[in-house]
Amino acid sequence: MVWGLRPHAPASNHNIKDLIFMDDRKIILSGIKPSGALTLGSYLGAIKNWVELSDTYNCYYMMADLHAITVRQDPATLRRTTLEQIAQYIACGLDPEKNVIFIQSHVPAHAELAWVLNCYTMFGELSRMTQFKDKSQKNADNINAGLFTYPVLMAADILIYQADLVPVGDDQKQHVELTRDIANRFNGVYGDVFKLPEPFIPKVGARIMSLQDPTSKMSKSEIDNGGCVCLMDKPEDIMRAFKRAVTDSETEIRYDVKAKPGISNLLQIYAVATGKSIPQAEQEFAGQGYGTFKQAVGEAVVELLRPVREEAQRLLADKAYLEKVYTEGAQKAAAAANRTLRKVYKKVGFIQK
Ligand code: TRP
Repeated sequence: MVWGLRPHAPASNHNIKDLIFMDDRKIILSGIKPSGALTLGSYLGAIKNWVELSDTYNCYYMMADLHAITVRQDPATLRRTTLEQIAQYIACGLDPEKNVIFIQSHVPAHAELAWVLNCYTMFGELSRMTQFKDKSQKNADNINAGLFTYPVLMAADILIYQADLVPVGDDQKQHVELTRDIANRFNGVYGDVFKLPEPFIPKVGARIMSLQDPTSKMSKSEIDNGGCVCLMDKPEDIMRAFKRAVTDSETEIRYDVKAKPGISNLLQIYAVATGKSIPQAEQEFAGQGYGTFKQAVGEAVVELLRPVREEAQRLLADKAYLEKVYTEGAQKAAAAANRTLRKVYKKVGFIQK
């Protein structure tokens, strides 16, 4: 990654707004809604991969706060979890010098492009989105238009940076596919405005499952029933969650997602946490009881998360630093985003300012 001056930036005006990625590495964008604590699933399934990608790609990683309000949020809590999420991104190893770390609502171009793209997205397409169907069932008393047009804002997030790759969990793949359809439709009318992004779904760690219901994804909605472990959890809470993890009535520690979802999930967590392969982990625990195994997985996770928690706590005590990260991040992001937005406004026929 190389930061540089935009070619036409006047030499006298060296400010951060002129800093954009200058090399031809591929572009990545991803984000997580700050609608609660980050979980072990978001770390192993997403952020850990983001850190690895940041060596090879130019990366934009955001707090998707605009998306978060599609379901009701308590304002004070949202402010706190957004800041915590930034601290946790950095504590997980995302370097703000190498990556653009920013808050979605700080870059108004996302919402502006989303409006335009709304006019190039069909009602029928949005009605078919599985997440919309799921969420409108779960929030039957608040099926708002934002929930419906959620994927259009996500398309704007992605297309505005001309992203090549979008690392997402497989529940978001359909939204990336819709993004391609919208981009194709727009490009079909106006020429090549948007790059067509690909979803990037990592093989290992892509799906960390609930410890209480290993057939569904680990989610922050399960904090209360012990199905989920959060990045900031204390070691004793983590150990308790693993001790209570649902397994099966056999005794063998073997990876078989269909027949043994609980044990397979624990093997997967252990493998990602320790950097070992799943066969290595199977061998290590061959002939041992579930109790010993669960204890070992818990300890591996405690050790994995300890430095993350400590570093995040240290960063949260330094509000000035966090503010600098998100302010500079938004300036860098806006520089890139505004270029695309200007082009779009011009193409659709708006008078240039
Ligand atoms: N919708 C994503 C999720 O719920 C979060 C998100 C918002 C996102 N905008 C994005 C992910 C753009 C990737 C790219 O997990």
